Amino acid sequence: MTLDATLARIDAGLPAAIERLLELLRIPSISTDPAYAAECDRAADWLVADLNALGIEAEKRKTPKHPMVVGHVPGDGPHILFYGHYDVQPVDPLTLWDRDPFDPAIEDTAKGKVIRGRGSSDDKGQLMTFVEACRAWKEVHGTLPCRITFFFEGEEESGSPSLVPFLEANKDELKADIALICDTGLFESRVPAIMTQLRGLCGEEIILTGPDKDLHSGMYGGAAINPARVLTRILGNLFDDTGRIQIPHFYDGVPDLPEDIAAQWQALNFDHGSFLGDVGLSTPAGEQGRTPLEMLWSQPTAEINGIIGGYTGDGFKTVLPSQASAKVSFRLVGSQDPHAIRKNFRAWVEAQLPDDIKVSYVEHGASPASQMATDHPAFEQARAALGAEWGHEAAFTGCGGSIPVAGYFKSILGMDTMLVGWAKDDDQIHSPNEKYDVESFHKGIRSWARILDAIR
Ligand code: BES
Ligand code: ZN
Repeated sequence: MTLDATLARIDAGLPAAIERLLELLRIPSISTDPAYAAECDRAADWLVADLNALGIEAEKRKTPKHPMVVGHVPGDGPHILFYGHYDVQPVDPLTLWDRDPFDPAIEDTAKGKVIRGRGSSDDKGQLMTFVEACRAWKEVHGTLPCRITFFFEGEEESGSPSLVPFLEANKDELKADIALICDTGLFESRVPAIMTQLRGLCGEEIILTGPDKDLHSGMYGGAAINPARVLTRILGNLFDDTGRIQIPHFYDGVPDLPEDIAAQWQALNFDHGSFLGDVGLSTPAGEQGRTPLEMLWSQPTAEINGIIGGYTGDGFKTVLPSQASAKVSFRLVGSQDPHAIRKNFRAWVEAQLPDDIKVSYVEHGASPASQMATDHPAFEQARAALGAEWGHEAAFTGCGGSIPVAGYFKSILGMDTMLVGWAKDDDQIHSPNEKYDVESFHKGIRSWARILDAIR
């Protein structure tokens, strides 16, 4: 049977594939919020049932938090492991959505048809591109092209607390020749990309407490310390005027960009004007002297993800808050150690605390950056396959986001990873009105069929 028969099957089956994706999108599997634990479980059950429907032996595997889904297809040729995550980000602020995030639909937009809903792009839509490619392959050939392990996680968006123990405990079962992850995007929404590096992440919540209750700011203001003032001063000290992060030893392990990579990135001709313009911005805001792609891919960051404190309701309240807190995260590169970053951040915070302010912290995940080796033959095979589907040679790029599992596949299982995906820059992942282009879904499925055909 030819590849063309599989591609034709994919084209004919697209409406049914979209219906299946919509079903999965209706399950609000928000991993970070304990109120949605049962929904995460339901999403895992849905995936098990869908793999079973394909004749694949699969099961839900318990962890202390949300279950993993593992399935196996025996076969000859290379053994690949496919990874995706079925959990999604929270949807707030709900008022900014034009529809219920978990009542997904196909919408016609000026740029074409999109699948609108939380998780459509990150990562349920992407995950299903691989499953649908397998379905079409099976329908045409009666079998799958090679030995495949399916591995779906339900905690990716919340720091993957169960991942390392799970990989440690199931090494032999999960180790394959290469891992394929579909959780990244196209370069500038057009060019197929194989991402060769991911940033790591260290998430930290810092809570400052001053007076033992909220106070009248006229009665106490001036004499009583205000934790919001202390917090904003500390956060304001994170950067100097050139955009360099001020935490001692923060840059330990940040490598210089190798010349060959710098040249590769230069050749991509990244249009940062339109990248920022699309979100209402104009000027790259990273460290002075860095190119925009370095700021995004090879430099670390410190971001304030949220600040909480005092009266934030309607109207006005002259209050001096008892507490102020912030959620802060650091994107890491090279060999920066997330645990050292946390330790150094805390020491730096504590050195700036005045009398009467107490501090506590909540950890929110720590994963190092990872660098992919690209010498496995699958990389060149995939590159050719992607070029044929997208009409544009695939690029090797960096990635600003984090997918902790890729690093652990290497460090725990000794397995290289190839990152390919079909998300577009304007998919609004983690934001209101997330969408996935029908084109991404359709050509993504076709791309996987081509990749499977090339590497089997
Ligand atoms: N799919 C993203 C990673 C990503 C983002 C790839 C942008 C390409 C471009 C992934 O699901 C994600 O958002 N990961 C989190 C991980 C974190 C919570 C540990 C991230 O990067 O914030
Ligand atoms: Zn994702």
